[in-house]
Amino acid sequence: MAKLIDGKAISAALREQIKQETRLLAEQGITPGLAVVIVGEDPASQVYVRNKEKACEEVGFYSEKYALPAQTTQEELLALVEKLNHKPDIDGILVQLPLPSHLDEKAVIAAISPDKDVDAFHAVNVGRIMQGEYRFLPCTPAGIMELIHAAGVAVEGKECVVIGRSNIVGKPMAMLLLHENGTVTICHSRTKNLPEVARRADILVAAVGKAGFVTADMVKPGAVVIDVGMNRNAQGKLCGDVDFAAVSEIAGAITPVPGGVGPMTITMLLKNTLAAARR
Ligand code: GUN
Repeated sequence: MAKLIDGKAISAALREQIKQETRLLAEQGITPGLAVVIVGEDPASQVYVRNKEKACEEVGFYSEKYALPAQTTQEELLALVEKLNHKPDIDGILVQLPLPSHLDEKAVIAAISPDKDVDAFHAVNVGRIMQGEYRFLPCTPAGIMELIHAAGVAVEGKECVVIGRSNIVGKPMAMLLLHENGTVTICHSRTKNLPEVARRADILVAAVGKAGFVTADMVKPGAVVIDVGMNRNAQGKLCGDVDFAAVSEIAGAITPVPGGVGPMTITMLLKNTLAAARR
């Protein structure tokens, strides 16, 4: 039976640390400030944004929420980003994605000052990550690295397989594993013999967006399995990309959904915001 990697507990410990560091900063008159921008009424995004605000409050950050109507124009959104770029009490800017389809996501990300880009989505920060010299770590992959470390797993020399090649998770995930000297393979929808490739993995990261995609036959006995999926099954229950019941019989360690990667993503956002405030 696989060891459970408890993202909730690991996250709570890190947030406690961030809270203490924030208290020390307050003695110097510095309060980390995060602006969260949400456009439209997407229910999942609303939940994420509420959780981000709540997390800020818990560690003693200042936060501002800008909830804009779905019909907001590109010009209006860019004007807000520009205002926040220059707002002295704001250290981090987060524009919740996805944006309504009439808005140009790439242009909005490009407008965020790289110094306040706590998501690490801006091309300048993506470039820094590629060069192995990063100020802001992309939140989800960085949270996964923390989980791997907390589980006592060394990446060096390990076969790492990432399923999914998104800009937010798959690609930066592969880069962080590479920087710790893993041998990294990225799988995607066109990969031939994906189960066979996945079975080579000592560390398997699933970021596909399909419930039950990773089955037991795709997992090497003893492997570390990280489930990034956030899917709803037919009953509306939150579930990951991994068939947890079957895979946990085979894996050496596994993250649950919920309570695995999810809580770590927001924790890494807090860490980036704190780092931005220190600068
Ligand atoms: N939508 C889903 N995940 C994220 C994230 O990490 N940051 C932002 N800004 N939007 C998201």
